[in-house]
Amino acid sequence: REKSRLKDFIHISDFDKETIMSILQKASEVKALLKSGDRAFQPFKGKTMAMIFSKPSMRTRVSFETGFSLLGGHAIYLGPDDIQMGKREDTRDVARVLSRYNDIIMARVFAHQDILDLGKFASVPVVNGLTDYNHPCQIMADALTIIEHIGQLEGAKIVYVGDGNNIVHSWLLLASVVPLHFVCACPKGFEPDEKTVEKARSAGISKIVLTDNPREAVEGADVVYSDVWASMGQKEQVSFRRQKFQSFQVDEAMMELAGSKAYFMHCLPAERGFEVTDGVIEAPNSIVFTQAENRMHAQNAIMMHLFGL
Ligand code: CP
Ligand code: NVA
Repeated sequence: REKSRLKDFIHISDFDKETIMSILQKASEVKALLKSGDRAFQPFKGKTMAMIFSKPSMRTRVSFETGFSLLGGHAIYLGPDDIQMGKREDTRDVARVLSRYNDIIMARVFAHQDILDLGKFASVPVVNGLTDYNHPCQIMADALTIIEHIGQLEGAKIVYVGDGNNIVHSWLLLASVVPLHFVCACPKGFEPDEKTVEKARSAGISKIVLTDNPREAVEGADVVYSDVWASMGQKEQVSFRRQKFQSFQVDEAMMELAGSKAYFMHCLPAERGFEVTDGVIEAPNSIVFTQAENRMHAQNAIMMHLFGL
């Protein structure tokens, strides 16, 4: 199938640049409409969405559920104890049963293979709401936020400071489709997946840098981005990681080194006092709440694209 007509939204890099940019354009149009108070636009009228959560969530759950309902649809929350995918019931069966009731499935899971299996066995579109490997809806929302603040996404210098995790993989996958200057500053031993780095590099359109020197890396950044040091599923490593990541805290001095044009971004939830100081997250150039808001608009546009609307 052509990249613009794929069934599922699992990796940004499954799509071409034109499709990604048109989804972002749609997101900003529908955002403007919803913010104007217009409630007559109901493209999801008569549609239902099943939302599978194997992990906790605030933003993903509320933005998907609210967004789907504002555009006329009905969303069903299935929490970690409800269907217990992979425990109570095989993922393949969950995919096929939910496809018989719903027009779309959104899922947040641990193993990336689970979202791939859902996509393979569901007959309706599957949207990735975070796996241990990536978080594409977050990075689409972030891209929209960058366009709103900087005026364009192409060529932006994004310096991520912290763990080479699912957020980093999503940035790398975006960088394999849209030209970026993406820098990941992480401690040795916490680098992102090598194959994903290679994929972004071999696409040949972005400048991709890995370093363990965040202070040097942030210089001239358009965006300094951070995320928790221990992701969901790694919480037993919290104290070990706090030691390893000590010098990777984004604080006022690091933002100073970045320069006056740098915005601070974080996917949230944040552990203030660890990966970022209170002062940085509360500063006027912190755009974390717009990122959170934009989750809803980016996802609405992603779903409209999958429905061919
Ligand atoms: N950023 C994000 O996905 O937040 P939640 O974990 O609250 O959904
Ligand atoms: N890396 C974090 C992102 C949370 C939105 C996690 O996976 O827990």
